[in-house]
Amino acid sequence: MKLELRGITKRFGALVANDHIDLVVRPGEIHALLGENGAGKSTLMNVLYGLYTADEGQIILDDVVQHFRGPGDAMAAGIGMVHQHFMLVPVFTVAENVMLGHETTRFAGSLDLPRARAHVREVAARFGFEIDPDAIVGDLPVGVQQRVEIIKALASDAKVLVFDEPTAVLTPQETDELMGIMRALREDGTAIVFITHKLREVREVADRITVIRLGKVVGEAEPTATNVELASLMVGRAVELTVHKDPPQLRPGGLIVEGLRVLNADGQLVVNDVSFAVQPGEVLAIAGVQGNGQTELTEAIIGLQQNVIGSIRLDGVELLGKNVKQVIDEGVGFVPEDRTVDGLVGDFTVAENLILNRSAGAPFFRAATLDLGVLRQFADDKITEFDIRTQSAESKADELSGGNQQKVVLARELSRPLKLFVASQPTRGIDVGSIEFVHKRIVETRDSGVPVIVVSTELDEVSALADRIAVMYRGTIVGIVPGNSPRETLGLMMAGELPNEVIA
Ligand SMILES: Nc1ncnc2c1ncn2[C@@H]1O[C@H](COP(=O)(O)OP(=O)(O)O)[C@@H](O)[C@H]1O
Ligand SMILES: [Mg+2]
Repeated sequence: MKLELRGITKRFGALVANDHIDLVVRPGEIHALLGENGAGKSTLMNVLYGLYTADEGQIILDDVVQHFRGPGDAMAAGIGMVHQHFMLVPVFTVAENVMLGHETTRFAGSLDLPRARAHVREVAARFGFEIDPDAIVGDLPVGVQQRVEIIKALASDAKVLVFDEPTAVLTPQETDELMGIMRALREDGTAIVFITHKLREVREVADRITVIRLGKVVGEAEPTATNVELASLMVGRAVELTVHKDPPQLRPGGLIVEGLRVLNADGQLVVNDVSFAVQPGEVLAIAGVQGNGQTELTEAIIGLQQNVIGSIRLDGVELLGKNVKQVIDEGVGFVPEDRTVDGLVGDFTVAENLILNRSAGAPFFRAATLDLGVLRQFADDKITEFDIRTQSAESKADELSGGNQQKVVLARELSRPLKLFVASQPTRGIDVGSIEFVHKRIVETRDSGVPVIVVSTELDEVSALADRIAVMYRGTIVGIVPGNSPRETLGLMMAGELPNEVIA
């Protein structure tokens, strides 16, 4: 089935999230929709799926104009969506999940479990993947759960299948498998919309690429386009993608973590006997699929976790047992993984956010009152130095874009003498141009002789920054390998396996 979007416009108040977007996706085509965070990709797909009504424009399937009043209409017309946040019931089996939500389609009216089971087997065989219809969904790895979502979409006879950022939660191997499934679906004549901001994936699997920026289609590209070409289209200016990095100049001292164990609020052992060291002048990246203990590990270092045993020594000083303020005062800089929760106070001005964690005392406080002149000068200097795009130092942090909020956090954390810098998902949700800037500052920090820990689920980021890579899986460090280790090795480790060449 051919999908045509013509002049789709969707406004949220004054914001034009989709501005006269045209898109044609043919049967048997994988069409990548590429754009930065906030470009309007999900909005467009929500319009297509009947979740939003467009203010202007038409959805046309095989030359027939559609009028969707909700997802039920869209599904009935043959549109399927593989959600990033799975909509599955974890205590149900695969077949039961596939059966759910198909009141309007082929399982209509009956809870026909044998049919659902047969359907699961049939789809799995057709597209060459393995799945047990009777497995409990909650027990399955994320990549397999995603296949259940795909089978579910196919159960409603989807001829147009939308994947909205499907690889965000997958290991590299699971990503490869998903690409294989997408290719098989293409062979089968399905029209596929593949949304992502990862250039590598687009170039690998897409037949055609449409780039959107700020709600508008800004260009079409061939899969043969280079990463630099695609990135430049996404951000609207030339960008440099490679981080220049000299070999590390290691110095003595730094952080030594030994036998670290963290119990979370539910009493689960989420960090289990973790040991590693980071020397001044190097970047240790901690890689892994989201949710394997990385968050709790960094929180334990910074003093945010309650139930921790082991030892965390920084230049000989034990950090374990200190609270966050004491750890910061020891010279630890921290970029939290969610800047909007832990990194910034949205209601405060940019200037106020730039001194959030400073103790009362010089230079900002004199006789317990804030010295506004000094603060203003400091803020203006940082805004220039970190290229923070804001109307002024008095703008509220909330009003800044994600990339600029992240620069505020970085500017604050890197503007005092540090003995350790810990950056968790430093570029999550920020644009390609800001990523380049953040990476440069991290490398500069390392070169100034600070031990740096970067936690990232993005392997491209890990490879760009790391001198050494520790891979976490289910609370443990599977191994620590050189920064230039191949993706396949890292991917296996992210699934908990230790490849032979690493053991040797
Ligand atoms: N329900 C909504 N209400 C208001 N603004 C929204 C809503 N959904 C998305 N937006 C805004 O629309 C723009 C496009 O968002 P989105 O389509 O989610 O982008 P993408 O998927 O490309 O990251 C963003 O500026 C976002 O903040
Ligand atoms: Mg989106």
